[in-house]
Parts: sequence; C-alpha cells; structure tokens
Amino acid sequence: MRYFITGGTGLIGAYTTWRLIAAGHEVVIYDISPDRVFLQELIGEDAAKVRCVAGDITDLPFLLRTMQEAAPDRVIHLAALLGAKSEENLYRSLEVNCTGCLNIFEAALACNVARVVWASSVAVFGPRHRRVGLEGALPNDALHDPNIIYGACKSLSERFSLHYRRNRGLDILGLRFALVYGYGKDRTLARGTGGDFLTQLIDNPALGKAGRIPAGDAVIDFVYAEDAAEAVVRACEASDNRAVAVNVTGFRTTLRDAAATVRAIVPDAQLEVEDGSWKGTIHHYDATSAEREIGYAARWGIEEGFRHNIEEVRARAAQSVR
Ligand SMILES: NC(=O)c1ccc[n+]([C@@H]2O[C@H](COP(=O)([O-])OP(=O)(O)OC[C@H]3O[C@@H](n4cnc5c(N)ncnc54)[C@H](O)[C@@H]3O)[C@@H](O)[C@H]2O)c1
Repeated sequence: MRYFITGGTGLIGAYTTWRLIAAGHEVVIYDISPDRVFLQELIGEDAAKVRCVAGDITDLPFLLRTMQEAAPDRVIHLAALLGAKSEENLYRSLEVNCTGCLNIFEAALACNVARVVWASSVAVFGPRHRRVGLEGALPNDALHDPNIIYGACKSLSERFSLHYRRNRGLDILGLRFALVYGYGKDRTLARGTGGDFLTQLIDNPALGKAGRIPAGDAVIDFVYAEDAAEAVVRACEASDNRAVAVNVTGFRTTLRDAAATVRAIVPDAQLEVEDGSWKGTIHHYDATSAEREIGYAARWGIEEGFRHNIEEVRARAAQSVR
C-alpha cells in the first residue's frame, strides 16, 4: 500500500514510517523540515526507500501536487505546531494546526484517498480540576474543555473532521495521543514539544548525566513511541469508525514512581525529584474506544519501555562516538 505521512520524520512519524517500511509499504513523507538523519538512525539502510519531500502543509498548491503525484491509499497527518510554539504565535498556530488540517482533508478528498488518520491530542480535554465530580477515567466522548491554544486548535480540527466525514464522505479518524516518549524525543524539544522533563528522566541517566524532575506527584500517561506507531498503523487498517477520535493511552504513573523505575534500571542515576503536581491535565483517559474501534491496546509497560528507550539512547551514543 502507498502511504503519505505529514510530519513523517517527527517522533511519532518516524516510528510509524519504520513500521510501514518494515511491512513492505511505500512511504512518502511531507515535512517542513525533514530530519533524514533521525530516520536513518531509526530505520537504518531502509530509510533510502522513503521519499522525503520538504513541504509546508499550509502551502495547499504544493501539498496537492505532491499528494497527487504520490497517489496514496492512506494519508497519515501528524504535522503540527506543538504546545509551547502554539502559544507563542497564534496566527501560525491557527494556520498550521487548523487550516493545515483542512488542507490535508481537502487534498485527500481531491486525491480519492481511501482513508485519513490524523493526530489530535488529549489536550482537547483540558485540566482535571475543572471537571467537578469526575472520578476514574474521562470518557472518550467527554465534552472538550481545552485550556491551551494547541488543545483548542485540535478540538476545532476534530469538528472539521466530523464535517468531512458527515458532509463530504471522507473516511477519517483522529488519534488523541497521551504523552509519547521514546528515543528521539530530545530532537523534538526545539520544536516546542515541551518534553524536557522526559529527556531529564530518561536520556540523562542513560548517558550518566544528572536529571531534574519537576512536579514529582504529577500523574503522567506514558505511551511508548512504538505503541503510538502501532495505533497509527491499526487505525489505517480500520474503516468506518463511529468515534470521531479515540484516546491513545499507555500506562499511568507519577513522575516520582517513574524516576524510581529509571533508578531500578540505572542504579547510579542522579535524579532529583521535586515535590508538587501540575494542574494542567487529566492523565486518566478512557481507552476502551481505541480497543473497540481500531483494536489498539498499549503493549509497552513503563519498565519495559523505559529500559528499551535507555538502551536505544546508549546504543546510538556509542555509535556516534565510533
Ligand atoms: N508526542 C506527543 O506526546 C503527542 C501527544 C499528543 C498529540 N501529539 C500529536 O502527534 C503529532 C506528532 O507529534 P510528534 O510528537 O511526532 O511531534 P514532532 O514535533 O516530533 O513531529 C511533528 C513534525 O511535523 C513537522 N511540521 C511542523 N509544522 C509543519 C508544517 N507546517 N508542514 C509540514 N510539516 C510540519 C515537523 O517538522 C515535525 O517533523 C502532532 O500532531 C502532535 O500534535 C503528540
């Protein structure tokens, strides 16, 4: 099958590309700043099979032409302006995260693409403290209450996608990822992905450096990048979903317990964990819709995922020294 992936050399995109290439599919990546080095690191010599086009999703004529030439069976839309960058420049945020999304949906329709899978975010739901009386998991179809521009843009894009499904007949599904981690997270920091505490928690101990973890009592839903890619691939293989978007979750723990897990893997890890929590997010999302709609359930537990991530960081560092 032929796949067209926007943001395909980003964190989730590169792991997804890896999965698709390993399964023998053709992949064209459309990314504003393709990181071929990361792709090569992750996929090895098979990276040469991937066509990378440097393009902006807000440039509709070029996007359309590139998608037409690629003639994909599936479009995976992952390109976005993430958290901090979204807050810095609201016009650009609206342009990339909303108009860019519309451009993908229009282009997919124009190119007769059979199915579109795109990245929303659990940020559409906003903070837990505003959900008076909520106990346990937040349902998949809970009302959106975003408290950041990024979450508001993802929420609007979910509404767009519903319109394209109902009014234009596009087969489409959004994936609301919780916090995705994995080797390569450090490369995303400059793009404002806001995962610095993840590299402090995982990459620093792996490389013998000290790490500082804020808000040790905060509960995080950790999704390993290989599970995120699994969800994308499964979503591409499904069709005609009922839900507009499904929560893609992993395993929940406090940052303090996450640090203890890292210490069990790296006994001499120097991790300083601060007290306190964040009010910003909910951290407990219903996962049954993802299971029902696309057959996804997280496989990488926290201990297993962290261990693998640490091994990858060390292996790549050793390679770059040679
Ligand atoms: N990583 C997470 O924890 C997480 C959580 C929830 C949702 N998401 C969503 O998943 C998707 C992928 O996230 P990621 O973690 O891989 O981020 P990432 O920053 O690693 O990847 C995004 C990619 O999009 C590209 N891009 C940005 N603007 C573009 C534009 N205008 N045109 C073309 N390409 C552009 C970037 O160059 C980058 O390669 C995003 O839509 C994000 O909002 C991620």
